[in-house]
Amino acid sequence: MKLVAPSILAADFNNLGDQIEMLNKSEADFVHCDVMDGVFVPNISFGIPVIHAVNRVSQKPLDVHLMIVNPERYIAEFHKAGASVITVHYEACTHLHRTVQQIRNLGIKASVCLNPHTPVALLEDIISELDMVLLMSVNPGFGGQQFIENTYRKAETLKEMILRRNSKALIEVDGGVNFEVGKKLYEAGVDILVAGSFVFGANDPIETIASLKRL
Ligand code: DX5
Ligand code: ZN
Repeated sequence: MKLVAPSILAADFNNLGDQIEMLNKSEADFVHCDVMDGVFVPNISFGIPVIHAVNRVSQKPLDVHLMIVNPERYIAEFHKAGASVITVHYEACTHLHRTVQQIRNLGIKASVCLNPHTPVALLEDIISELDMVLLMSVNPGFGGQQFIENTYRKAETLKEMILRRNSKALIEVDGGVNFEVGKKLYEAGVDILVAGSFVFGANDPIETIASLKRL
C-alpha cells in the first residue's frame, strides 16, 4: 500500500484550520498528530483540545502518535477527541499488551512505535494483535531531522515478521521522509509515509502529497 500521513507538527499553527482544509483537498490518507509531553521526549507540542479542534475540521482520519509516558491514562480521552489510530511507544509501556487491548476495545486501530534503537524482534509476541507498527526513522521529539538509514533494514525485517505471523499490521515510517527516502521505504515494504517538513515546507503541499503516493 502507498499511503501518506502528513504531520501537522510542521503546519502553520496560526492557520491550523486552513492547513487542515488543505489536507482535506489533498490525497492525504491520514492526518498525523504528534503529541509530546516534555518527559518521554525533550519537547512539548499539543494535546487533547487541539486534536479535538483538528477533528472538527478534518475529513481525514486522525493518526495520533503519543510520545508520552503512561499513555494508558489518556487513551480514552484521545479516542473521545477523535483519534482513529492511536500509536503508543514500546519504550513507554510496561504492560504493552494491556494497553493495546485498551485501544482495540474502543473500536479504533492500535499501533506500536519503536524508537530507532529498539529492535523489531521485540514485537514478535504482539505483532498479531496490532493494526499498525510505526518505525521512528529519527529520534522522536522534533521535525526536520535527518533520516536514519538503518530504518530500511528494520522495515524489511518487520515485513518478514508480519507475513510469517499472518499479521494484518501496516508499516508506517516517521521522520526525515522525502521523495528519495520514500521510494526506498515503499520498496522495503512500508505502507504509510509520515511527512512533516517535506509536505508543509513545500511550495505546493497538495502536489507533494500526490507525488509521495506515486513514488
Ligand atoms: C518526530 C515526529 C514526526 C515529525 C516528522 O518526533 O514524530 O512525526 O513531525 O517530521 P519530519 O517529516 O519533518 O521529519
Ligand atoms: Zn510522529
